[in-house]
Amino acid sequence: MSGKYVHGYDPRENERLHDQAGTLVDLLHSDTAYPGGSLVLEVGCGVGAQTVTLARRSPDARFLSVDVSAESVDAARRRVEAAGLENVELRQADIFDAPFEAESFDHVFVCFVLEHLAQPREALAVVKRLLRPGGTITVIEGDHGSAYFHPDSAPAGEAIECLVELQRAAGGNSLIGRELYPLVSDAGFASVHVSPRMVYVDASRPELVDGFTRKTFTAMIEGVREPAIAAGLITAERFDEGIRDLHRTAEADGVFCYSFFKAVGEKR
Ligand SMILES: C[S@@+](CC[C@H](N)C(=O)[O-])C[C@H]1O[C@@H](n2cnc3c(N)ncnc32)[C@H](O)[C@@H]1O
Repeated sequence: MSGKYVHGYDPRENERLHDQAGTLVDLLHSDTAYPGGSLVLEVGCGVGAQTVTLARRSPDARFLSVDVSAESVDAARRRVEAAGLENVELRQADIFDAPFEAESFDHVFVCFVLEHLAQPREALAVVKRLLRPGGTITVIEGDHGSAYFHPDSAPAGEAIECLVELQRAAGGNSLIGRELYPLVSDAGFASVHVSPRMVYVDASRPELVDGFTRKTFTAMIEGVREPAIAAGLITAERFDEGIRDLHRTAEADGVFCYSFFKAVGEKR
């Protein structure tokens, strides 16, 4: 993992990842299903927010879900156990130093991880070695440059830019969604297909207003308030104005848009 994980590992962040996963399940995962008997490596499972969905949707596949953070792996294990899932094994491992044999997995799944890595290309090369020929990789990433909203707001844009800048300073790239096609293709995967998944939120979709605009996106930006101010990227007043304006987009006449990108490729 590059430098410092910009979102941190505190309970509020765990809650945000769960809210995010719950709200976006269909949008992101409706077309992900693994055949019975296949072995899937989930890289950077975090607190298991995607793991439970993946394992439920492919009950006859087996999942090995790994994360560099032992604390997150413990939280993921509790979540998987609470869900009563028996097709998931959880293990603490750094993907750059993972003790797995080459070509030992049928599929690899990577969600919201490349954006935090200083070496996303190397990570893709590593997982390609772990995949058997004919296996697939699925990568899902966001892109904070894809956020636009009504009412538009310069302070909100500046607050978002603080996260982009802090993540860049930590070695990551929160604008990586738009790069998935070249990244996955350049790693040597074949038949690469990227599909943008747009989240569109207005007051007629109250579950998204709450689950996405407020509890996912705005909460994520709010999470960098202290480091952004400490780094001199913005004043406290301007940041708070930006956050107020993001909340404003969740009101009755507000609109919020964001795009995720999902890439699938095959190892020939
Ligand atoms: C934003 S979280 C995403 C978690 C989960 N995939 C999800 O969608 O909810 C990124 C995760 O990648 C993990 N990670 C970062 N670098 C890693 C590495 N080198 N090996 C394994 N996991 C890593 C972090 O610890 C963190 O839990």
